[in-house]
Amino acid sequence: MIDHQRIRNAALRAKVMSAEEAALLIPCGSTVGMSGFTGSGYPKAVPLALAARIEAERAAGNPFRLKVWTGASTGPELDGALARADGIEFRLPYNSDPIARERINKGEMEYLDMHLSQVAPLAWQGFLGPLDTAVIEISGIRPDGALIPSSSVGNNKTWLDRAGQLILEVNSWQNPALEGMHDIYYGTALPPDRRPIPLVRPDDRIGEAAFRCDPDKIVAIVETHAPDRNAPFAAPDAAARAIAGHLLEFFRHEVAKGRLPASLLPLQSGVGNVANAVLSGLLDGPFENMTAYTEVIQDGMLDLLASGKLRMASATAFSLSPEAAAALNARMADFRNKMILRPQEISNHPELIRRLGCIAMNGLIEADIYGNVNSTQVMGSRIQNGIGGSGDFARNAYLSIFMTPSTAKNGAISAIVPFASHVDHITQDVQVIVTEQGLADLRGLSPKQRATLIIENCAHPDYRPALADYFRRARQGSYGQQSPLLLDDALSWHRRFIETGSMRVS
Ligand code: COA
Repeated sequence: MIDHQRIRNAALRAKVMSAEEAALLIPCGSTVGMSGFTGSGYPKAVPLALAARIEAERAAGNPFRLKVWTGASTGPELDGALARADGIEFRLPYNSDPIARERINKGEMEYLDMHLSQVAPLAWQGFLGPLDTAVIEISGIRPDGALIPSSSVGNNKTWLDRAGQLILEVNSWQNPALEGMHDIYYGTALPPDRRPIPLVRPDDRIGEAAFRCDPDKIVAIVETHAPDRNAPFAAPDAAARAIAGHLLEFFRHEVAKGRLPASLLPLQSGVGNVANAVLSGLLDGPFENMTAYTEVIQDGMLDLLASGKLRMASATAFSLSPEAAAALNARMADFRNKMILRPQEISNHPELIRRLGCIAMNGLIEADIYGNVNSTQVMGSRIQNGIGGSGDFARNAYLSIFMTPSTAKNGAISAIVPFASHVDHITQDVQVIVTEQGLADLRGLSPKQRATLIIENCAHPDYRPALADYFRRARQGSYGQQSPLLLDDALSWHRRFIETGSMRVS
């Protein structure tokens, strides 16, 4: 029974088929660009059918794997199912699925972790290779054949334009009131033809409400009715509340000094529990009329919108717990005029982040005493998620803030280390570090001044003496005193963790 309310173009109804039939149209070993960004707007039926096909073909002696591109992370029906079936040979640009993470860390899957703003331009430049098929979730098709986006935009515009053939999943679970909320900008180009992007406020609309689509490329349309599946957020614990408290105090201070307006500047908030807790903290703060120019709208941001403290939010996707997604769906009419979803090359565009003067707030795995930040690789080699948009925002923001509990794994790991085991954000891109212990404002400080402040303000008391001791000994070294370093000791904390399960000296 074809849903005429959702598929309003009569000619395209002839292309409706089952997910299993659509999955058979994807060539073995090919490259597939899928929709999806942090558990929203990803296709929910075709990847499952594809995983079943991969398992059946392997059992029949015809193994094959795919190259999978997306916006960012997806849900268990996509990354989880395909990774479980060992169906992914190469993955970009971001992953947070635990099964895929394990395969990557075992060396069974190649993973290219990218700045999310750079995926579309690199695809257009041709560096990523050809894109054979796009599998895109949409919430409907307009009479003119334009595609109404669903709960994430991500790289969908680029995949629809670049792919040789298109498979669409029309998901009737997605709220019909999403129509009109999106802003799909078609003005990007490659050098030397780039022009300024005409966005000067977070609420500017510069594009179209739907995706353009060549109907001749559509080979299948699959109807689904399935919810987005984002992981629930942990309730803010004492550490997250303390981090939020330090940040609020810092913002008050910056407003008092005249370095931030009373409504702050457009907020960017990263993924994860701590970032979400900080947004919840802003609910109790004095700042009104705020805006967000960010990557994802998460629970805390929805609460801020509902309270009226946040005037509007621009992002590329929702990243909501099941409860918050239900609350949004119930009140979509109230929210839809306060939110804009854009392609990720625009939501994360360095030109726009710099122009708007965003306040970037992102989580970290570890920071070293000089303020270099590792966002991605535990002990320097095991991927956690990926850099995501943190690099897009941190380097270009007005204020680049990183936050973390001062320890991980029940205190066995210090988040402040002598030397970062992997660096995603160099010290020049890191202006403020916050832990539950305190906040280090690093602006205007030299490396040694930074080290003193980070050890004093951010490190956990259990690790502070050892860090101070390392720094003191490094300062006695004779080779260089710009960023004093003990080559033999610098990564010894990580080695101790791998050997003993703790960074503590017993
Ligand atoms: N060593 C080992 N593991 C660590 C760690 C460290 N130094 N720091 C954090 N972790 C682990 C935690 O133990 C936890 O593991 P678990 O899921 O097995 O319990 C996991 O990382 C998440 O940490 P948590 O403290 O709950 O923080 P979070 O949910 O705020 O996530 C990041 C922190 C760094 C993982 C997350 O912010 C991230 O992936 N950042 C990179 C991408 C990004 O910044 N995107 C935003 C752009 S818009």
